[in-house]
Amino acid sequence: MDYTGKQNNMNDNDAKNTAALLKQYEQDDAAYLAEFAAAYRLVRERLQTPRLLHSLGVAQTAARLAAKFGGDVPKAYLAGLCHDIAKELPREEQLALLRRSELAADQGVLEHRSLWHAPAGQVLLADLAAQRPEFDAAVQSACLWHTLGRPAMTPLEEAVFVADLIEPGRDFPDLAGIRSAAAASLAGGVAACMRGVIRFLEAQGKYVHPLAYAGYEYYKNQLN
Ligand SMILES: [Fe+2]
Ligand SMILES: [Fe+2]
Repeated sequence: MDYTGKQNNMNDNDAKNTAALLKQYEQDDAAYLAEFAAAYRLVRERLQTPRLLHSLGVAQTAARLAAKFGGDVPKAYLAGLCHDIAKELPREEQLALLRRSELAADQGVLEHRSLWHAPAGQVLLADLAAQRPEFDAAVQSACLWHTLGRPAMTPLEEAVFVADLIEPGRDFPDLAGIRSAAAASLAGGVAACMRGVIRFLEAQGKYVHPLAYAGYEYYKNQLN
């Protein structure tokens, strides 16, 4: 969902706060970060601190959603941790990865660079899976769909999709409303996220991918 031009609401210049927040996440989630130490290192190597904090926030939030609504909790943590792994790769590297993905022929994705990092991340995780089998197909697909969303996502995809927008570091219009929808049901959370993102993009005259509209229709109908 990073095609919203989202910001971490953390003040990047405040190194002390940043370090304290990182330490807090590492304390809170020490068990997961020990279990997934190799994955954490692979993510940390590729992301600057603000996006690393966002990734830890998404991991923690996705794990909470999986615990609440049913799902593989450690896997949700791992998928959240890895979802933006390709986001800070150089343009050409993202494009080369995207061209090997199942969205390689999707013009809407190709023409919008902010949509590249999710399919690029999926392919990167698939490459890394040779060494790190925990990057399995379920984790890869949660990475692939975290930005666009789509109709009928898996519970893991849904958890990461929602967590990406509601994690503690996020700033977004009507986040309180979206968070409370996500507190009531996962499908409701997905619908609220999709609605919020579509409105946000439309208000700015920005591109909305057809899958975002299709996903919203699907999840809106799930609620009726
Ligand atoms: Fe993203
Ligand atoms: Fe993200």
